[in-house]
Amino acid sequence: MSAPKKLFIKTYGCQMNVYDSERMAEALGGEGYVETKTADDADMILLNTCHIREKAAEKVYSELGRFKGLKAEKPDLKIGVAGCVAQAEGAEIMRRQPLVDLVVGPQSYHRLPEMETKARKGEKVLDTDFPEEDKFEQLKRRPKAKRGPTAFLTVQEGCDKFCAFCVVPYTRGAEVSRPADRILTEARDLVERGVREITLLGQNVNAYHGAGPTGDLTLAQLIWELDKVDGLERIRFTTSHPNDMMDDLIEAHGTCKKLMPYLHLPVQAGSDKILKRMNRSHTAESYLRLLERIRAARPDILISGDFIVGFPEESEADFQATLDLVEEVKYGTAYSFKYSPRPGTPAAERTQVDPAEAVDRLQRLQALLTRQQREIQDSMVGREVGVLFEKPGRFAGQMLGKSDYLHAVHVADCSRKIGDLARVRIVSSGTNSLAGELIE
Ligand code: 5AD
Ligand code: SF4
Repeated sequence: MSAPKKLFIKTYGCQMNVYDSERMAEALGGEGYVETKTADDADMILLNTCHIREKAAEKVYSELGRFKGLKAEKPDLKIGVAGCVAQAEGAEIMRRQPLVDLVVGPQSYHRLPEMETKARKGEKVLDTDFPEEDKFEQLKRRPKAKRGPTAFLTVQEGCDKFCAFCVVPYTRGAEVSRPADRILTEARDLVERGVREITLLGQNVNAYHGAGPTGDLTLAQLIWELDKVDGLERIRFTTSHPNDMMDDLIEAHGTCKKLMPYLHLPVQAGSDKILKRMNRSHTAESYLRLLERIRAARPDILISGDFIVGFPEESEADFQATLDLVEEVKYGTAYSFKYSPRPGTPAAERTQVDPAEAVDRLQRLQALLTRQQREIQDSMVGREVGVLFEKPGRFAGQMLGKSDYLHAVHVADCSRKIGDLARVRIVSSGTNSLAGELIE
């Protein structure tokens, strides 16, 4: 029997790419591949790329350049580029970097096995279609192997919002929701294999409208169906758009015990002029009122956000409006970025903010967000929270897990094992994590 072929996947970017990488590994698993942790002993290397910010394509080309030596030593090594850079650059990748054998866009992963066969025969293969068939159904079912207590599950892909800075509507295409029964089957299968917490993924997850037995389901209705799955203890979802935060979803945050008190709700900016230029179709005020309603339903909910500073035409006063909004919201965690022009998007053509000014604004915003994050983390001390244990800690007897609010928590001399959900009293707050004690 020949040794299995080895597959090395490097994943960049969002959680959806993490999920997609798992599915690609499974698809190629059916072709006799096992995953390896280094490129050095791989028979196939796949870069699952992200195109959202910064010189994404350039980074991919320089990473590919590093495989030259390996490919020279091992002519049978196949190299592929997947993900959003693959979608955006297409055939250009093979032109610029001839050592690439295979380019596959995010909607075509189910075609990887045939693509691999062609690549083995020495063909260059490219597939950046948006095919009619459902890639998730075509992909091999997950093997029944046991897995860790948390998992991602993609329920929706693509985006119709066309924010003026964003490539997602171009690289991931139009919004598509998966049918509810397939999601439920996948969720039950994950639970059978040890999963206790599922994070529902979608670029615009709260716009979910997948087919159900009697018409389309909203995200809240899908969550209530998942709530019935025995053994599933926690449900999360990401990422949401403020305009799709429907009443039933807000209500579910107050009434569904399995739905965790954490919401990633990007606002991007605090100035209405900039929000309008970003094509966000909400205002700072409407965002704040929305959060009031969410907090009325679930007062302790932890809010997370995304911000862009230095968007074209952003003045100091506009930036100040972002700081004011942040002061008012109090974010438990946040991601903030300097605006990066993405070719093909409307904002890329506009007058850009002075780069030094943008860097300065980013630093000021991040200082504020870091302070808020720390204050909220510190306010957990003395509270009782649920913790799902995910792995052993650095010290003997210590276990690490995540709280309901997604804070990292470690417990010393912990009698619980991976996958256990326990009540924990928080005793201290460190740089990036909390320490807790089990409540018997
Ligand atoms: N420049 C900077 N940040 C961006 N994001 C999306 N596109 C850009 C861009 N062109 C950020 C947004 C989004 C997050 C995933 O990435 O804040 O919510
Ligand atoms: Fe991009 Fe999100 Fe805007 Fe869609 S809603 S265009 S994914 S930033």
